[in-house]
Amino acid sequence: MDAKKDLRKSIKKRLSEISLPQYEDQSYRVAQQLFKTDEWIEASTVAVTVSKVPEVDTFQIIRKGWEQGKRMVVPKCEPKPRKLDFRELKRFSELESVYYGLLEPIVSETESVSPDEIDLVVVPGLAFSKDGYRLGFGGGYYDRFLANYQGNTISLAFKDQIIPEVPIESHDIAVEKIITSEGVIIIGD
Ligand SMILES: Nc1ncnc2c1ncn2[C@@H]1O[C@H](COP(=O)(O)OP(=O)(O)OP(=O)(O)O)[C@@H](O)[C@H]1O
Ligand SMILES: [Mg+2]
Repeated sequence: MDAKKDLRKSIKKRLSEISLPQYEDQSYRVAQQLFKTDEWIEASTVAVTVSKVPEVDTFQIIRKGWEQGKRMVVPKCEPKPRKLDFRELKRFSELESVYYGLLEPIVSETESVSPDEIDLVVVPGLAFSKDGYRLGFGGGYYDRFLANYQGNTISLAFKDQIIPEVPIESHDIAVEKIITSEGVIIIGD
């Protein structure tokens, strides 16, 4: 879909212009708000991607989860079926750099966790609309995953990532909450 492609390009450009102080400030404020949500507080197992600049930093989220005794799981992408295999991460040294500089769990050092054991998925995206729709990175990995997922979903966003409208297709699935540095958007409110 060309509309999605064009939008991905322009959002990526906009995000690459965020300064380091802004990146740290907004990432910190987003994370603090996530930690106050019921979904986070009640979750024993949380799935989150390992962020790559300039996405909202998730390293501090993984650390906080560990400190609070949560099981933190991170995805390994399976490109052929375009599926996500979430694996428990116990330390950052269990990650390896794969394509495009993405960090993924090392299979021989981590255990796979079934989706029905995941209480909260922090869903990544490039842009979001206030009705919870999400422009992802284009693989359809999360749309496929969410189609069969029953637990809670939250996305994290810099304020520049909230846009009036996201182009959607029938397979796109909205998230339940979006957290920005300015506040929490609860879908359906
Ligand atoms: N549930 C599904 N079943 C089969 N194909 C799907 C499904 N969801 C998405 N796809 C396919 O994946 C491709 C990418 O979809 P889309 O552009 O929405 O990706 P995205 O939302 O940016 O990526 P992601 O979900 O990984 O964040 C599309 O060609 C779409 O047809
Ligand atoms: Mg999609």
